[in-house]
Amino acid sequence: MAIHPPKNRLWWNEPVERGEIVWIAIAFLWGVFMFLFMIWWHFTGTQNLSNEAYRIDPDVFAERTEAFADQHTVREEGDTGFPVVRPPPGSDVYMYARLWEWWPVLELERGQTYRLHLSSLDWQHGFSLQPVNINVQVHPGYDMVMTVTPDRVGEYSVVCNEYCGIGHHTMVGKIHVVEPGQPAPAAESGG
Ligand code: CUA
Repeated sequence: MAIHPPKNRLWWNEPVERGEIVWIAIAFLWGVFMFLFMIWWHFTGTQNLSNEAYRIDPDVFAERTEAFADQHTVREEGDTGFPVVRPPPGSDVYMYARLWEWWPVLELERGQTYRLHLSSLDWQHGFSLQPVNINVQVHPGYDMVMTVTPDRVGEYSVVCNEYCGIGHHTMVGKIHVVEPGQPAPAAESGG
């Protein structure tokens, strides 16, 4: 079967049908509405994070995170042996992403405010805090800083939601939120 040109070669000069004009107008106005809604939602929506981003060398970020962990580790997480770090309320808190882990485990107090710093030591990962569903892109070379005030006690998982290689699905971190002043669960915290 051959492809034939339209009989009327100047088809684009034909008047557009009324029904088609109406649909184009509806689609256009909907697009304008959605565009304005996006701006409005930016200011009034509660989904926006109070995040900031700064350039940082991955080695420097690793050093800061390790120094932070050395200073405030209270115990080790049972199955992984990762340090559980409990920083003082109001302080800077660090967590890095790398193939394929979030390090260290954090323990924060409910109702206290922290400056949470996230970065990657190798390539792109995605910080997805579950079950509250807060999502942040984590890139090497950028210090992503969020001011956070956990409002519910519990155990939160940090899932990597940017495909980052063969271990991507195993890249799960953890944040504990505890009552203020509550001591870290016994066992290894005796020292
Ligand atoms: Cu890290 Cu996927």
